[in-house]
Amino acid sequence: MKRYIFIIIYILCTTGCHFYKEINVIDNPNDLVLVNKNNRLKSNYIPNDLVKLDINYSNKDKYLKKNAAYSFYKLSKDAKKLGFRIIIVSGYRSYEYQDKLFSYYVLEKGLDYALMCSAKPGHSEHQTGLAIDVEGSNYDYNLFEKSKEFNWMKNNAHKYGFILRYPKGKEYITGFKYEPWHYRYVGNEVAKYIYEHKITFEEYKFGKKK
Ligand code: DAL
Ligand code: ZN
Repeated sequence: MKRYIFIIIYILCTTGCHFYKEINVIDNPNDLVLVNKNNRLKSNYIPNDLVKLDINYSNKDKYLKKNAAYSFYKLSKDAKKLGFRIIIVSGYRSYEYQDKLFSYYVLEKGLDYALMCSAKPGHSEHQTGLAIDVEGSNYDYNLFEKSKEFNWMKNNAHKYGFILRYPKGKEYITGFKYEPWHYRYVGNEVAKYIYEHKITFEEYKFGKKK
């Protein structure tokens, strides 16, 4: 199955695919900003209201935009009451950090794989300060789907304003392989809409433009 998805994205990305072509530069990002392979943030963009995350809810020295952080605290607290552990392992990432991360994947796994799992600098929504990678009680974000927390997160994150950003089967729209650990803050109303309609953030934004 993994091989099948890889082949589809590889074909899309090598045959006239629009990813990383016709790139729009974002001027004033707000909470509903769409950052993807065709919409990029400027290299000097840093959100102005980043807060350092409380160590009870994240790994050391992680930052997030204030509203996303407080909503996540609520989510994590409610999850804890049910016996779950949901912790942020990656939040805000600078342009420079993303540059290093992307280069690391290219070096370790090759360009084709890197393009599917890591955004080029400026194209990562982690730079917005509104995206998070989480881990559960199995202490491995890569295996979050196998944790007891995943199902709860998948069906409740929207109540706190978060969406599963790179769903399975939507790789041809998002440009990235399925990431069960990556969630994006879009606010409660939009998150509910996206969850109920089973769509991606791209589809939501395109629908609004019509
Ligand atoms: N892994 C996601 C796509 C990123 O690099 O932002
Ligand atoms: Zn992520």
